[in-house]
Amino acid sequence: MRKPMIAGNWKMHLNSAEAAKLAAAIKNGLDPNLKHDVLLAPSFTNLEVVRKETASSPILLSAQNMCWEEKGAFTGEVSGSQLKDAGCDYVIIGHSERRKIFLESDEVLNKKLKAAFKFSLKAIFCIGETLEERENNQTYEILQNQLQKGLKDISAQDVENIVIAYEPVWAIGTGKTATPQQAQESHIFIRKELSKMFGEGEASKIRILYGGSVKAENIDELMSQPDIDGALVGGESLKAEKFLRVIHYQSAVNNEKIQ
Ligand code: PGA
Repeated sequence: MRKPMIAGNWKMHLNSAEAAKLAAAIKNGLDPNLKHDVLLAPSFTNLEVVRKETASSPILLSAQNMCWEEKGAFTGEVSGSQLKDAGCDYVIIGHSERRKIFLESDEVLNKKLKAAFKFSLKAIFCIGETLEERENNQTYEILQNQLQKGLKDISAQDVENIVIAYEPVWAIGTGKTATPQQAQESHIFIRKELSKMFGEGEASKIRILYGGSVKAENIDELMSQPDIDGALVGGESLKAEKFLRVIHYQSAVNNEKIQ
């Protein structure tokens, strides 16, 4: 019922020639019968080359961030309309690096989500707790807060254009993956919260990806959890062969979901 998605977040890596080469290798390695979504999120400066390289493929294109304003005196920012014009299908909003390093608040992220929908972009909205919050048993409280504030006043119609990415901050780039059970528990909680906000029917349609040290070696087990609908992959998405293995995960559970 929920179409799985494997998304690669290339962060601030690769020059244009490297991005083109990696995109081509991923495109050429895709199983033509693949039924789920594959998405690449390069830097702004590499959107164009990746778009060209993947034009005749089902690969979706995403930016990693955007401004909530349409245009104007906002030096250094990129708007949703510019991303749409560059060929983006999606934009990542609220990655923990944006929250932590660039101090983006829940309120700002909420504005960005609304602006994304205004320009017909879909969004991958990231949420997740820090290690300290997990150790203080605040995980659910944090997730609830990020969902309630981030998705405030978003209509049930627009919520269909959101993919949630649960990324425990302590698992990002650290090599420490949440256990599939830990991830599944958080995903169940997130879906319950979404049900309260948008109704059970809508919530059952929203894809929830897991992110944080996803690798070729752990993807099968993660994708075997019923509420894990895909993955947002950082480091491992920069290596064509490894990322292709992640894309072509093996899971009875998730293969059944799309039938
Ligand atoms: P990682 O990053 O896979 O390198 O841990 C994931 C992310 O930040 O989206």
